[in-house]
Amino acid sequence: MKFFIDTANLKEIDEARSLGMLDGVTTNPSLISNESVSNQKEIQKHYISICERLKNEENVSAEVISTDYDNMIQEGEKLSLLHPRIVVKIPITKNGIRAIKYFSNKKIKTNCTLIFSTGQALLAAKAGANYVSPFIGRLDDLSYNGLNLIREIKNVYENYHFKTKILGASIRNPLHIIECSKIGIHAITSPISVVYSLLNHPLTDIGLEKFLKDFKKKIK
Ligand code: G3P
Repeated sequence: MKFFIDTANLKEIDEARSLGMLDGVTTNPSLISNESVSNQKEIQKHYISICERLKNEENVSAEVISTDYDNMIQEGEKLSLLHPRIVVKIPITKNGIRAIKYFSNKKIKTNCTLIFSTGQALLAAKAGANYVSPFIGRLDDLSYNGLNLIREIKNVYENYHFKTKILGASIRNPLHIIECSKIGIHAITSPISVVYSLLNHPLTDIGLEKFLKDFKKKIK
């Protein structure tokens, strides 16, 4: 399973790279607004800096802000011209679906975001999205089972051999990552803190402490 990092923060991206856990990056308007950027020029420069940290097969999702079709197209085209590693992230709306179809015809890669139902994921795939981002944690927050959505989408995509890749998003805890890997989706996108939490096990800590204590008792 691919590990994408859900951040626009360059330090976190570098940290994920040094861990060997970086297959791609996803951003969204909220994450971009947390960085020191205050206008379009700075945002564009920031996206380019992210792209330059990635390898050829990796990509970064950059989301459009516009909600009307013409501006979505204009914005998405500009984003895609910034760097070949940009994937244009588009929300699942009527205009969004039309825009995804347009970009798919032009071979510009898209990630359809804010997916909360199987029906939305089906439309995104039919429009030709390269990725869909179902939001697991935000569904869990409302007492819906986010992982069930992932299972359903995988099932539907397999029924019809859709090429759209499932990118599990809104990851909040290590079980989300583990369950996604058991379901067998292409990738998850997670904050780096949740990736670190996969490391935690008290028996590892106890075991390491004992190994070092035993060693130091006998060996100078
Ligand atoms: O980038 C989209 C998604 O991963 C957002 O996650 O934690 O804000 O629900 P979250």
